[in-house]
Amino acid sequence: MRRKVIAGNWKMNMLPNEAINFIEELTPLVSDTKNEVILCVPYTDLFYSLLNVQGTNIKIGAQNMHWEEKGAYTGEVSAQMLKSIGVEYVIIGHSERRQYFNETDETVNKKVKTAFKHELKPIVCVGETLEQREAGKAEEIITNQTEKALEGLTDEQVQNTIIAYEPIWAIGTGKTATSEDANNAIKAIRDKICQIYGQNVGKSIIIQYGGSVKSANCKELFTTSDIDGGLVGGASLDPEEFAKIINYDK
Ligand code: PGA
Repeated sequence: MRRKVIAGNWKMNMLPNEAINFIEELTPLVSDTKNEVILCVPYTDLFYSLLNVQGTNIKIGAQNMHWEEKGAYTGEVSAQMLKSIGVEYVIIGHSERRQYFNETDETVNKKVKTAFKHELKPIVCVGETLEQREAGKAEEIITNQTEKALEGLTDEQVQNTIIAYEPIWAIGTGKTATSEDANNAIKAIRDKICQIYGQNVGKSIIIQYGGSVKSANCKELFTTSDIDGGLVGGASLDPEEFAKIINYDK
């Protein structure tokens, strides 16, 4: 049985004092869940968040990193920097980064490899645009993105990657993919991974859904055959709402 992983993606929101208050409120609400809880916070909140989740079941992730180890890359943050303060997870290739900051399948792949080198667990985002979906190309796009992101990894590394399927047209728009469509897309990704890395890896890799997940729709999504939890943007900014999503199975 695969575990469920519910990750919040705060994007460019929350000041350190807000992060601290949020964690204080969230902690008792989710302390007895068996689901994995991750908060992916802005760089400036990482250290405060890490201090404040000590002794809780909440894990901390970053939202991006560079693929190089170090050097003249003004404004960038390396995997080693994240690891050195205790960060466990890192989102790689979010569609906003692909769209606004020129991330490509190639840079996503480089980042995933560097993340593993420094023992960070990547949450790799894939997803199609509305145009691509309407042209009947969604599956081809997302399976290609997945294949390229994972290229050159060992089976064990693939097994430890989290994939987040996030249809771009569903992000921040209030439009959610139907649970059936989301599950089918995720099945297609899983089949592709089974094809390349074998059943063992494909059946055990965690694949989340993301795109307007909220307490009102999470149960339907998370109880399908292949969706292993969610990557939650807007609804992760409110501790009570986020806790309801984490506790969808109570
Ligand atoms: P949303 O964002 O839940 O606000 O749609 C999801 C994401 O971008 O990860």
